[in-house]
Amino acid sequence: SHGYFTYDPGFMATASCQSNITYIDGDNGILLYRGYPIEQLAKSANYLEVCYLLLYGEAPTAKQFEKFQHNIMRHTMVHEQLSSFFKGYRRDAHPMAIVCGVIAGLSAFYHDPMDITDQSHREIAAHRMIAKLPTIAAMAYKYSIGQPFVYPRNDVSYAGNFLQMMFAVPCEDYKVNPIVERAMDRIFTLHADHEQNASTSTVRLAGSSGANPFACIAAGIASLWGPAHGGANEACLTMLEEIGSVDRIPEFIARAKDKDDPFRLMGFGHRVYKNFDPRATVMRETCHEVLDDLKIEDPLLDVAMELERIALSDPYFVDRQLYPNVDFYSGIVLKAVGIPSSMFTVIFALSRTVGWMSHWNEMMSDSKQKIGRPRQLYTGAPERDFHTQVEK
Ligand code: SDX
Repeated sequence: SHGYFTYDPGFMATASCQSNITYIDGDNGILLYRGYPIEQLAKSANYLEVCYLLLYGEAPTAKQFEKFQHNIMRHTMVHEQLSSFFKGYRRDAHPMAIVCGVIAGLSAFYHDPMDITDQSHREIAAHRMIAKLPTIAAMAYKYSIGQPFVYPRNDVSYAGNFLQMMFAVPCEDYKVNPIVERAMDRIFTLHADHEQNASTSTVRLAGSSGANPFACIAAGIASLWGPAHGGANEACLTMLEEIGSVDRIPEFIARAKDKDDPFRLMGFGHRVYKNFDPRATVMRETCHEVLDDLKIEDPLLDVAMELERIALSDPYFVDRQLYPNVDFYSGIVLKAVGIPSSMFTVIFALSRTVGWMSHWNEMMSDSKQKIGRPRQLYTGAPERDFHTQVEK
């Protein structure tokens, strides 16, 4: 009770939302997309199959997948005029600033004819977002390094297309490395959805007012950017680089435990997982596979492994159930495949677009859905008379 009124804790329990898309058991480190364990999907399905599963609730048949893949890959180009959006940004703008702005701008290109109360129009919106995010993400990167935009291609995979838009140049052929392509596709899957995290809740709240899906996804991208959320992958690599070598780990562990020091171990801890984040386990395996396959010796992997070992034997972290999360190893894998750290959260946003669109569609399909309106607990001044204030 706060003096003015008591509130029913049970009310807080009813404040959560209902969904049949993703299930997380934080105590036991379980993550299911439409009932399928993330460990199995990451190794046995490709990202577009996972997109189909998240959007429609069932894994696609071969015929369904062929049609879905065609629908996505045939819409990877963006309106030619959209490229002028990029020119308004300074060259050194963070790619997340560019992607967030350009996605919101899609509202002006693709939304008008759309009736989002019509399921078939919502399906088109989902397909367009999944198709165009990689193109816009790669354009943001090309713009930041002063290279020409590279058009999408329909004769390569979804992950392969992203890589060629990122790294191809007009003056020479680009061949997608299958090891890198497989790692990229798996990273997309591991980040595809995660129940009611901050950015997904942002998309659902924005969508509950009837805002167009492109504006809702832009809102989700803005929320994801924070270092406590999707920005942690970039912050984690920066932290590992700052630590630099295993002998400096104790210094950073001490800082993470120091209440007066705002420093936290990036890539550690989670609002829900009080056990291993199953994505982190797959990401660690992928890290070893990719570095071995590409014959890369990255000292940051040794730092990450030793940091994990020390933290997981330290009572501060054990007592608080702080384990590595999806962001702890992803940066090392992305760095190994040549992605600059400024693009890490952009790739998280690209991957999560299908999760955001699946939740947006689930919410919009619920005819009883009302506008989101979180309640508050008022702890401010009681009612008082302004005139007595003015007379003073
Ligand atoms: C993602 O929600 C999702 O699903 C998100 C996500 C997704 O897929 O959408 O999984 C993606 O955002 C993963 C999280 C990425 N963020 C980071 O790695 C940033 C570093 N982690 C922390 O900032 C933190 O762990 C959070 C933000 C993730 C959770 O913060 P909480 O809710 O405050 O953590 P908590 O309540 O479990 O903290 C309990 C204690 C606190 O100390 P005490 O007050 O009990 O003394 O643990 C401490 C915290 O200060 N703590 C940490 C810590 N994380 C929590 N101390 C040092 N280092 C850390 N990383």
